[in-house]
Amino acid sequence: MYWLRSFSLYLAPMAGVSDAIFRSICRELGADVTETEFVSAEGVLQAWQRTKRYVYIPQGDHPVGVQLFGAHPNRMAQAARVIVDAVQPDFLDINAGCPVPKVVGRNGGASLLKDVPLLADIAKAVVTELRNDCPVTVKIRTGWDAQHICAPEVCRRLEDVGVRAIAIHGRTRVQQYGGSADWDMIRYCASLVRIPVIGNGDIVSPYDVLRERNLGAVAGVMIGRAAMHNPWIFQQAKSLLTTGKLPLEPTVKERIKLILSHVQRTITSGIYGDEACTMRTMRARILAYSKHIPGSKPLRPALARVCCYEELRELAAILLASLNGG
Ligand SMILES: Cc1cc2nc3c(=O)[nH]c(=O)nc-3n(C[C@H](O)[C@H](O)[C@H](O)COP(=O)(O)O)c2cc1C
Repeated sequence: MYWLRSFSLYLAPMAGVSDAIFRSICRELGADVTETEFVSAEGVLQAWQRTKRYVYIPQGDHPVGVQLFGAHPNRMAQAARVIVDAVQPDFLDINAGCPVPKVVGRNGGASLLKDVPLLADIAKAVVTELRNDCPVTVKIRTGWDAQHICAPEVCRRLEDVGVRAIAIHGRTRVQQYGGSADWDMIRYCASLVRIPVIGNGDIVSPYDVLRERNLGAVAGVMIGRAAMHNPWIFQQAKSLLTTGKLPLEPTVKERIKLILSHVQRTITSGIYGDEACTMRTMRARILAYSKHIPGSKPLRPALARVCCYEELRELAAILLASLNGG
């Protein structure tokens, strides 16, 4: 895990968002490390043909991790082996933070924080299976709820079983996305272990990245929602870290160009089906991008219903004309 030698910027794993195309956009804009959205161990073992598209790694998409969730040590180890043999990721990440009922209800994701010995057993089984073939990392939250903060214990246990890095989202499962991320807890956990800890939660500006680099506790930061609105955040943070200066904000024209190219590339890839299916999937992404585009508010209802690429191009032209006073 050579990239951990310097303070690294991670694109967070995000279901329905961090597909190969978005990963490549963020990488082009300065993300050092990316990660696929999660796949379930059972999906890998029972329906590989359907599941494998979620862990597709194009040439050049490195370093990249594949994220796996599940609740049984043996099944997780078997699924990890299938993934590593098929796509050779740079690391295999165990999800112990996902709060959604579909995952928690199957005793995966954040529910593992309620059973730390089981989480350690899962990590140990995966580490043993992959041995020198692929490093294993784990992404956790701080605990199940405020009364059961277990991240310090979890970090120690995971280090003991051979996990190579831990990403901590500084919220409990019960918080979901409410409140704010507890960076004091993240930094405290980082001070307890020798393996790198990557901090996650509420990094919304390049100055948040600078703060954590200067405080020196974490080995890197992981950025999720802010990258959906503004993938330039990686480039902006890098510039601030290396030169002390921020680059110019992307212009509206540049932002629109990126949206169009993202949508076009996704249609061409066919990963979400035909153009109509792709547009339905991409609407939320287009709306997320448009949040940072001044003057786009009146177009949001139309963007929320956009049906084809040509219509999106027309809406983009209307927006640009309105900004130019046309
Ligand atoms: C749409 C969406 C999908 C997500 N999917 C995953 C996932 O597949 N695996 C995971 O570990 N976390 C997932 N997360 C959580 C993020 O990785 C991250 O921990 C969280 O958004 C906090 O970081 P942020 O404040 O930078 O957004 C998801 C978050 C969002 C918003």
